[in-house]
Amino acid sequence: MVVLGIWDGHDAGAALIADGRLLAAVNEERLTRRKLEIHFPEHSIRCCLSLAKLSPADVAVVAACTGDIAKTLARRFPGLKERYYRIRRRKAAPGYLSQIQKSAKYWIPEWGPTPASRALSVIALQRGLRRAGLSSARATLLNHHDCHATAAAWASGFPSCAVVTIDGVGDGLSSTISSYANGRLTRIAQSAARDSLGIFFEHVTNLLNMRELEDEGKVMALADYANPVADDLNPLLPFFTVRDGRVTSKIAGHAMLPHLRSILWRYPSEQFAYMAQRTVEDVAARLAEDALRLTAFPRIALAGGVLSNIKANRRIALLPNVEGVYVFPHMGDGGLALGAALAAAWANGEVVDRNFGGDLGLGPDYSDCQIADSLKRGALSAERAHDLPSQVADLLTRNQIVFWFQGRMEYGPRALGCRSVLARPDNTELRDRLNRVLKQRVWYQPFCPSMLASDAGQILEDHAGRSNASMTMAFAVASRFREALAGVTSIDGICRPHIVSDNAPGAFGDLLRAVKARRGLGVVLNTSFNIHGEPLVCTPDQAIEIYRRTEADALAIGPFLITRY
Ligand SMILES: [Fe+2]
Repeated sequence: MVVLGIWDGHDAGAALIADGRLLAAVNEERLTRRKLEIHFPEHSIRCCLSLAKLSPADVAVVAACTGDIAKTLARRFPGLKERYYRIRRRKAAPGYLSQIQKSAKYWIPEWGPTPASRALSVIALQRGLRRAGLSSARATLLNHHDCHATAAAWASGFPSCAVVTIDGVGDGLSSTISSYANGRLTRIAQSAARDSLGIFFEHVTNLLNMRELEDEGKVMALADYANPVADDLNPLLPFFTVRDGRVTSKIAGHAMLPHLRSILWRYPSEQFAYMAQRTVEDVAARLAEDALRLTAFPRIALAGGVLSNIKANRRIALLPNVEGVYVFPHMGDGGLALGAALAAAWANGEVVDRNFGGDLGLGPDYSDCQIADSLKRGALSAERAHDLPSQVADLLTRNQIVFWFQGRMEYGPRALGCRSVLARPDNTELRDRLNRVLKQRVWYQPFCPSMLASDAGQILEDHAGRSNASMTMAFAVASRFREALAGVTSIDGICRPHIVSDNAPGAFGDLLRAVKARRGLGVVLNTSFNIHGEPLVCTPDQAIEIYRRTEADALAIGPFLITRY
């Protein structure tokens, strides 16, 4: 059976499962080149079918999610969605109606789905499916949080666990707790959309003049530079209470902005960020504690946009009595297409293989011939490297910045060794150069390391054998390694490592082993291969174009190594 999952909202995308195997998953932004694309994922659908070598007629079921009133209006009037997208991404100035639109944007999603909104959503979706040649497939509309939860439970590999979802809003809810056992999810608690921790952090992001739904990680990073505020003096903590797996907010999400603004003016920005970050961590940890207690399982799987917050995840991982924490790598709405495909496959009695590969390489790849053709078009010589990992390790050791393009593109927000920018992890000047000439990130946002698991054991104070293959969790760097990791550690000594098995097959594992042979530690700075404001590169042409536009020293693309010197 072929099941196609789609998501047609913020960070739209598609995922395809055939005969119990996840074959492809990609997000629309990588194909349209508009970051966090919002439109119907027609390019992703075509891409998934092509990667699986299937045609639209082969698809039996198309699964989408979310049938609340706000989502249905967005499906019916895509122009409204586009206008908000352009204002949010600072591509268009807000007009005189924008304040009313903004208020509606937070107010309408607090109404849950109705039979009418769900029916109208299905009609709107079928229009897109017809355009994609999928009119013969059976369309099904699933619950937003069930899709987040299914993805987390499935990918965790746990036979049974508690599952917690926390996001902005979806189908009238902002968080859920479920128990997962025997391949079945059972919802046991939920929080209303009006009580949303995600909307709270969205407002905070916006008030700090950052882009909501995109820059929340910057708020978390800025918080590191604050003088800590004691919990009893933090005016944001009392906004929320958590009881029996349910979050309640003193003020509804749609009415929260003026209250937060009235607090912000009394504090420097970094202090405000700290207090908000502390609130997110606290509420998330208390919800996780409730989930463990209510399900009586010692393991927990997490998904939803709020759980992109690596420090909140760390708090959960350090809770007493928790034996295992898994965060779904594409935890935000960008991962809903995969969640929908999985939930629909389960509903049809399919058992889906849980071994989907650590590097999440579920997107397009390109043959050596295709890459060579791209290099020729870019007027670059297509000379094969004699030992690519060793040569790149040498370049990194000599303080060079290397663009790394290998294999299938990663699914999800992190670069995991398929489309990465690499550098030495100890050189802060190199880090600053990388920021200045390529990434144009804010100065307080740290880069991340990739490291071999055997090194993680000594570098990370609280490693305790935990894996972090998808960079979803923060760890403390032991003080004796702070210098060796100076370019990838935040001011509070925390890093977000990509931990790679010492026996990992493929070029990236070889590279880390070659770096270890030269420098004693198999660690590199690894950041996503894109330039400021653009999605991760997908094709060889895009990689070559960025190489030509920037000051990177080398491009390791497929079997070819291109250097400037
Ligand atoms: Fe969500």
